[in-house]
Amino acid sequence: MNVIHLSVECYPVAKVGGLADVVGALPKYQRKLGIDASVVMPWYDKPFVKSYELEIVAEGGFNQGSQYLDYTVFHLDESILGFPLYLIKVPGFLDREEVYGYADDSEQWLAFQHAFLHWILNNNIRPDIINCHDHHVGLIPFLLKHGNDFKELSNIKTLFTIHNGQYQGWMNWNKGILLPGFDTWKWGLLDWSGSINPLSSAIRCCDAYSTVSEGYLGELVHEAKGLEGLFIEQSYKAHGIVNGIDLDIWTPANDPLINSKYNARTVKSGKKKNKQIFCEKSGISSEGLLLTYIGRFAHEKGADILAAVMDNYYSNNEKKLTIFILGSGDEQIQADIKQVFSKYAPKIAVYFGYNEALAHEAYAASDVILMPSRVEPCGLNQLYALKYGTIPIVRGVGGLKDTVIDVNEEEGYGFVFKDFTVESIVNAIQRALDYYSKEKKWSDITKKAMSLDFSWDKSAQKYIDLYNQLLK
Ligand code: GLC
Repeated sequence: MNVIHLSVECYPVAKVGGLADVVGALPKYQRKLGIDASVVMPWYDKPFVKSYELEIVAEGGFNQGSQYLDYTVFHLDESILGFPLYLIKVPGFLDREEVYGYADDSEQWLAFQHAFLHWILNNNIRPDIINCHDHHVGLIPFLLKHGNDFKELSNIKTLFTIHNGQYQGWMNWNKGILLPGFDTWKWGLLDWSGSINPLSSAIRCCDAYSTVSEGYLGELVHEAKGLEGLFIEQSYKAHGIVNGIDLDIWTPANDPLINSKYNARTVKSGKKKNKQIFCEKSGISSEGLLLTYIGRFAHEKGADILAAVMDNYYSNNEKKLTIFILGSGDEQIQADIKQVFSKYAPKIAVYFGYNEALAHEAYAASDVILMPSRVEPCGLNQLYALKYGTIPIVRGVGGLKDTVIDVNEEEGYGFVFKDFTVESIVNAIQRALDYYSKEKKWSDITKKAMSLDFSWDKSAQKYIDLYNQLLK
């Protein structure tokens, strides 16, 4: 079976969030299970891309509205990432430094989708399945079925995987002329409430769709930025498959990015060493509980509540807690965190930006991580944390609810809270502090956490089973 994963992010080529981690791992695990999986993504002006000699495998061109666009497809051999990688370059659109943040990103993703289809059509590439990831490639299922030029591709089955339904790729209809020619009788399959909506179009036109956890699938029918009804209507082709983690990258016993390697047997002394070095480097005390937040400063991640949580905690409590924050995003959130940081400085350390190596160090050093998400389709940080014996404090939504069991329940190993309020988060932190003060209990949940199996093996197989169903 031949499967192409189509995505605009893939670790380590270009990463903004968890989408990259999934697309950088899933195909590798699928190949181990015997299928021919590869990744196709845009070419970016990034260090990774420029550090390899890429082979040119195809060139071509097409019209996007009144503009003629040239494309080049580059190939990187399987030996580098564990799967073949194809990068599509379109000067002016797919040659940028960043993945997101451009005013014309609709045109950018239209160029990617059109170039991809043009390439496979004209080079006789006929995958059995195209697994599209998120709205940036959401028009593919529609174009395969109703694009004038792509009739020959219409038998290819599509699985559309939703990593985040909050973003749908809305486009004004005046951009309709930029799409490759399509059967205009079918325009309704592109439309949602008067705009072109790539996510809704994908849900309608794909052969099946999946979300990155069961829990999130259940939530989308209640809250999906206007698409709730659609998710109810199309639920007969919906599947929830929880993400895994790439153990080649996330195993503390052989992680080259952490100071002191450890396993479940040596976790206590291992984490202690990592904590000492990390805290010294960050200018915070290594006494007490070290709590970390890693992630984008985005509304859906609940990062806007962090400043108030810290302020509330430190103005009312003994200071048995130190906090490390690593992230970037919304400027107001960053400014609020900065202000609290200056108030309680040696208790809090912050790093504004994206730093993969520092994230590894932080997981190895921390006692707990906090994920106060409003919405969390799966969440990977809690899974990385668990592997490093770092206990998650999470809001019980989406994938967090599916993967973290509260210590009050049988076999529990985390702290789960329900309400998105400062009080409820501070309360969960207090519960963690309390647990932490009882050495035996803490050591038990740490070991339990490390023993859990969230590797990709199981979930990669579930995707394959689903592809097989579609091919029947
Ligand atoms: C998105 C979601 C996150 C998920 C990730 C990978 O970033 O917000 O919850 O884990 O995609 O699927």
